[in-house]
Amino acid sequence: MLKLGVNIDHTATLREARYRGQEGGEPDPIEAASICIDAGCHGITAHLREDRRHIQDNDIDRLVSVLTVPLNFEIANTPEMIAKALEIKPTAVCMVPEKREEVTTEGGLDVASQLEAISKSVTELQGNGIEVSLFIDPDEEIIRASHSTGAKAIELHTGAYAEAFSQTSERKKELERLSIASNLAHSLGMKVNAGHGLNYTNLTGLLEVPWLEELNIGHSIVARALTVGFERAVREMLELMANPD
Ligand code: PXP
Repeated sequence: MLKLGVNIDHTATLREARYRGQEGGEPDPIEAASICIDAGCHGITAHLREDRRHIQDNDIDRLVSVLTVPLNFEIANTPEMIAKALEIKPTAVCMVPEKREEVTTEGGLDVASQLEAISKSVTELQGNGIEVSLFIDPDEEIIRASHSTGAKAIELHTGAYAEAFSQTSERKKELERLSIASNLAHSLGMKVNAGHGLNYTNLTGLLEVPWLEELNIGHSIVARALTVGFERAVREMLELMANPD
């Protein structure tokens, strides 16, 4: 069954807009995560960025202590973040590129140019029982490089698909790229997740891509939750995933 991981970063983005540098404040991402879990999501994703622009260390610590579903801990491959992952031991780490100037994670990891550093972290994390996925563009070379790091999973960046969605030929091209990439990763024995830019409109098209095990969706669910609440926003997404037609 295709699983849904809800990325709760933007609940913290909203909190930080008012309470930056202060204790507490609302909305509380941990409360949001609990409602998403009650609504049936299969996992929670949170990205601890180097600049702490949304999720804070304390959010991660509280998530770890209350979560009843797997935590997918999104991080850049830095010594600080690898140490944090080894301290909290989440179910999974999703390794992402990070640039201070970007609004959100804008492209996939350039695995080939950092092969040694990524392989070292993958070995260390997986050696401690943490599943590692590499967030990458749907590209054959990058998939082969990801496989050579020893990582057992990838998360395919669906941003280009989401951006091309309104143009039929571009959308088909992106779906084909994703499908080819997914088939290759699967043939190499890797687990295939996907995410970025997915919403209630473009989700169903994406389900043509084979072998997907987990989708990580943030912005559209948090945005929908502002009007209908988290519980309904998550249930609607799960319903779409189960019945795309
Ligand atoms: N997956 C990864 C690796 C991400 O970095 C993000 C956030 O940028 C998402 C999924 C969720 O993307 P969105 O918020 O656009 O749904």
